Formats: sequence, C-alpha cells, structure tokens
Amino acid sequence: VERNRLLIVGAGDFAREVLWCAEEIPAHRRDWDIGGFLDDRPEEAQARMRDSGVSVPVLGKIGDYQPQVHDRFICAIGAPQTKLMVCETLAERGAVFVNLVHPTAAVGPRSHLGHGVIMWRYATVSTNVVIGNFVTLNCYASVGHDAVVEDGCTLSAHCDVTGHAHLGRGVFMGTHAAILPGARIGSFSTVGAGSIVLRRVAEGLTVLGVPAKPI
Ligand SMILES: CC(C)(COP(=O)(O)OP(=O)(O)OC[C@H]1O[C@@H](n2cnc3c(N)ncnc32)[C@H](O)[C@@H]1OP(=O)(O)O)[C@@H](O)C(=O)NCCC(=O)NCCS
Repeated sequence: VERNRLLIVGAGDFAREVLWCAEEIPAHRRDWDIGGFLDDRPEEAQARMRDSGVSVPVLGKIGDYQPQVHDRFICAIGAPQTKLMVCETLAERGAVFVNLVHPTAAVGPRSHLGHGVIMWRYATVSTNVVIGNFVTLNCYASVGHDAVVEDGCTLSAHCDVTGHAHLGRGVFMGTHAAILPGARIGSFSTVGAGSIVLRRVAEGLTVLGVPAKPI
C-alpha cells in the first residue's frame, strides 16, 4: 500500500520548525510520512535548507502544484493573507490539509479545530473553542474558553487569547500579545508584539501597546 506523504507548503525559516513538529508526531497519530517542501523559489529554498542542515527535499513550486491522491498538506507560511491565498487555492485544486498537533499541545472538551491547523509545542486550546482552517498556534499560544479564532489567523509564540474573545479572519498576533476577555479583533488586523487589546479592533488595522491603540 502506498503511504500518504506530507508536503510542507513554504520553505522559509518557520518551515524548519513545522518540519520539527511533524517529526515529533508519533507514528500512531498520523497516516503520512514526511514527503518534502513546496516553495515558489525551489532552487533557492533547497540551498537554504541545505545550508541549515536540512536534507528533506524541496519538491517543486506551490503555484503550479497539482495535488496527488496520497498528498497531505500543511502550511508553513506565517503571514495570514499569503497563507490564506496559498492554502485556499491549493484546496480548490483538491489538496487535503491535515492538522499538526504536537503531543505536548492540548485541546479541551467540546472544542473544534478546522483543517490545516498547526499547534506547536505547548499550544493550548481550552473548552468550547472554535478554531478555523489554516490557523497557526505557535509554541505556548493559548486560546481561552468559548473563544473563536477564524480562518487563517496566526498566533505567535506566547500569545494569549482569553475567554469569549473573537478573532476575525486572518488576524496576526505578534509574540506575547494578549486579547482580554470578550474583545473582538476585525479581519486582517495585526496586534503588535507584547500589546494588549482591551475591547475592540476594527478590520485591517495595526494596533500597538498597552492598551493597544491603532497606528
Ligand atoms: C506591529 C508591527 C508589525 C509594526 O511593524 P512596523 O509597521 O514595521 O512598525 P515600526 O517597526 O516601524 O514601528 C512603528 C512605531 O511603533 C513602535 N512599535 C513597533 N512595534 C511595537 C510594539 N509591539 N509595541 C509597542 N510599540 C511598537 C515603534 O517603536 C515605532 O515607534 P516610533 O514611530 O515612535 O519610533 C511590529 O512591530 C510587530 O510587533 N511585529 C510582530 C513581530 C512578531 O512578534 N513576530 C513573531 C515571530 S514571527
């Protein structure tokens, strides 16, 4: 029987961490083996990987890739807009995205994860949470009870989304950013590193500081 192979979409620096995450998923919790990376600059990406000591191959471009029956996908792009564009285009071509949930990560009861979700080391999703597709939770990111995180959001390391908070589509949170209980962040907004959102951020804004204010 042919085994499924995992393709990591994007071969930048974060892709090496995603590879590490994939390598740490035990065999009984996956139905794929690591296949390689896709990147729109395959030769450069391969050289970069080689320089970083990674021998996993860059198999080709993302742009013209035609998903095969045994391909499984996960995306290693952090920027939400690019991530959504790339993933949704691949999904329209038939790509099947899996979730990479590290063994140290936790998902509470009655919570739901979409597909293409990454939960890296010690990421925590509490109870009754909804996590959309292509959401990236970096190490130690935490999502509190009853929160909603829509498609394509990226939570950098140590982010804290507290209870009943709502992140719209494609929100980016810098490292150590926090969203207070019940606060709402509009689609494609960015919360700067270390910033704390008290109540509400409109769509497409960048907010910074404590309390977070638009720039
Ligand atoms: C919010 C952010 C995107 C802004 O980037 P930018 O548009 O390039 O802004 P600049 O660096 O030019 O900074 C603009 C101003 O905001 C201030 N500022 C930038 N980031 C800030 C932050 N997180 N908190 C408070 N102030 C901040 C700068 O000091 C500067 O102030 P000044 O105009 O008085 O000098 C960026 O600073 C940030 O926080 N990125 C998150 C990075 C991250 O955590 N990545 C995770 C690992 S991948």
